[in-house]
Amino acid sequence: MDRVLSYLEANHDQALEGLKDFLRIPSVSTHPHHKTDVLHCAEYLANELRRIGMKRVDVVPTAGHPIVYAEWLEAPGQPTVLMYGHYDVQPAEPFDLWESDPFDPTIRDGNLFARGSTDDKGQVWLHVKALEAHLEQHGRLPVNVKMLIEGEEEVASAHLDEYIEKHKEDLTADVVMISDTTMYDYERPAIGYGLRGLVYMEIQIEGPNKDLHSGGYGGSVANPLNILSDIIAEMIDSDGRITIPGFYDDIVPLTDTERAAFTALAFSEDEYAERLGVAELKGEKGYSTLERIWARPTLDVNGLLGGFTGEGSKTVIASKGMAKVSMRLVPNQDPEVIAQAFEVYVEKLAPSSVKINILRHGTGKPILTPRDHPAVKAADQAITQGFGISPVYIREGGSIPVVATFQERLGLPTVLMGFGLPDCDAHAPNEKFNLKNFYRGIISAAWFYQEYSKDSEA
Ligand code: BES
Ligand code: MN
Ligand code: MN
Repeated sequence: MDRVLSYLEANHDQALEGLKDFLRIPSVSTHPHHKTDVLHCAEYLANELRRIGMKRVDVVPTAGHPIVYAEWLEAPGQPTVLMYGHYDVQPAEPFDLWESDPFDPTIRDGNLFARGSTDDKGQVWLHVKALEAHLEQHGRLPVNVKMLIEGEEEVASAHLDEYIEKHKEDLTADVVMISDTTMYDYERPAIGYGLRGLVYMEIQIEGPNKDLHSGGYGGSVANPLNILSDIIAEMIDSDGRITIPGFYDDIVPLTDTERAAFTALAFSEDEYAERLGVAELKGEKGYSTLERIWARPTLDVNGLLGGFTGEGSKTVIASKGMAKVSMRLVPNQDPEVIAQAFEVYVEKLAPSSVKINILRHGTGKPILTPRDHPAVKAADQAITQGFGISPVYIREGGSIPVVATFQERLGLPTVLMGFGLPDCDAHAPNEKFNLKNFYRGIISAAWFYQEYSKDSEA
């Protein structure tokens, strides 16, 4: 590892410059007008993987955005790591809230600011650099590696399951390695062992067949926006419990051991509230903040649209309204069951004075990953080398839908070795990646591939 580590030290700046080029390509998967940018981003990544010596590098077209595949399988007798990540990013809007252009990576106060810096281009890149160092210095990798970097994670991996099903034989491995989650905090790196699932719904509501003068008609017909607010308000009670019938039925309760482990992390509710600029925290009664984020389900309005929202006032009863509502799920809630229960409930809450149309967007299953796998041990040792401190074990509030597919379709466990920070502002304006963690992440990744090989003295 000495040569690998000195290579990484000597190539510090080169690693950062390559990441900046990767971040300059606006690979926003949800916007159709970025389609060619997404393709260019896949090609940029594929070219880099070819350059560092990965084999069978391919940009695989799908009905949506392409998948980048690469492999290096010349370590007979060694285990195989399937490294997964995503090169697509969330939209950068609202642009005016960014201090620097989201697609012109800029360093301020030891952070690299750009859309995708943490989620997930920076974290994909740190693996590319770790693999490069091994290949460059030894002409080989300590283990076999397959890479699957998709361009549609941020749109719920629309075409990935189909690809995995079709390439089952090519994707055999011992474990999946993902760097797309966060550390516990700046001092404490972490290994994740759980992800929440997701159901994302849209409620469309329609009342009168046209907008109406709110004086001339107000009081005579149901106002769709009032009704939409009523429906949403009805879905969470005063204890922060979701009122959808059957919603909590399949949840595996937290064990006392796990609750104690969360408590041992000594989370500061005050600091958290202060960082977010809120006077108090709020959530489901009877649970701590960490429990609420990591191990309890939620229902949140992500967007609301309707009526007059311009400057000034306009007296009008809008004909239509819309709400985007997401629910985060925990084991063993089933997205399909929850989506259906939501639909039935919204229909029931809506009076006959309005018409309701409900759409389903992306879904993802909640998952817990094993903690006793040899690859977890390797990741633990790798992080300890990279950060000089051993990782804590945490669950994550976010979702990575493909992790359940890896488990169910390929029988593969996943290790979540994330290097983001809870305040990296992923999906928000001014997303950043802490540069120190970027470098410590590269070193940890380089150690991971070494530690997971059986002859770790090489
Ligand atoms: N990297 C995140 C998932 C994540 C976020 C894990 C925070 C741990 C902490 C991923 O890119 C993501 O944003 N996933 C989406 C999935 C959705 C679009 C189906 C999410 O969680 O909203
Ligand atoms: Mn991500
Ligand atoms: Mn994301």
